[in-house]
Amino acid sequence: MPKLQIIVGSTRPTRAAERVFPWVVQQAQRHGAFDVELLDLRDWQLPFFQEHLGTIGDFSDPTYSDPIVKAWNKKIAEGDAYLIVTAEYNHSVPGQLKNAIDNLFVSFALRNKPVGFVGYSGGIAAGTRAVEHLALIVIEAEAVPLRNTVLIPFVTNAFGEDGEPADPATGIALSITLEDLAWWSNILSRARAEGELLPGTFRARAAAAASQAD
Ligand SMILES: Cc1cc2nc3c(=O)[nH]c(=O)nc-3n(C[C@H](O)[C@H](O)[C@H](O)COP(=O)(O)O)c2cc1C
Repeated sequence: MPKLQIIVGSTRPTRAAERVFPWVVQQAQRHGAFDVELLDLRDWQLPFFQEHLGTIGDFSDPTYSDPIVKAWNKKIAEGDAYLIVTAEYNHSVPGQLKNAIDNLFVSFALRNKPVGFVGYSGGIAAGTRAVEHLALIVIEAEAVPLRNTVLIPFVTNAFGEDGEPADPATGIALSITLEDLAWWSNILSRARAEGELLPGTFRARAAAAASQAD
């Protein structure tokens, strides 16, 4: 069964994420297509990004500057699909979430794997700008961002006491996103097993070296 990792990107005390992610995890488990794992960035106290060639060592088994960075890269590499739950801070993603993605360095842990998004915010924007930004960020990590997303406005009032969303459209959006994640995860797992191209940066460097040798 494909492994779906649900990443919670807001870590502050009193976070509204607490209203959102338990429902997301429950729905992903009920969906039945995935082995679901919750990765709460509160549990991953990553340093501010500080990697460089000297901290990497062996590229096939990088050392990194800190054991937690190595563990984070290994953990994310275990996933077949990802669902990122993100707040919107200053029209973008929380800094901790961007830092967690930056810390996926030279492991290509997200490469050729699908990523879905659940955005929320305190106002009408519903995390839209954070999700748009996040889609661009994960493209650079060579992941495959999904078009269909879950967007939750006015998050403080978006869930009832039973933990269910007040607006039925929220549940429909999550079902569609989970269906897409299952489809893409199956297709891309098979494609990865058939063989992957080397990352474009490596191919560009090899081509440049070859042209200089001519
Ligand atoms: C630093 C900061 C910046 C924010 N910027 C935005 C914003 O650009 N757009 C928006 O809709 N809400 C914004 N908000 C409101 C948040 O969406 C709202 O506080 C939400 O609850 C944050 O998620 P969290 O409680 O899980 O951290 C901001 C909140 C903070 C703390």
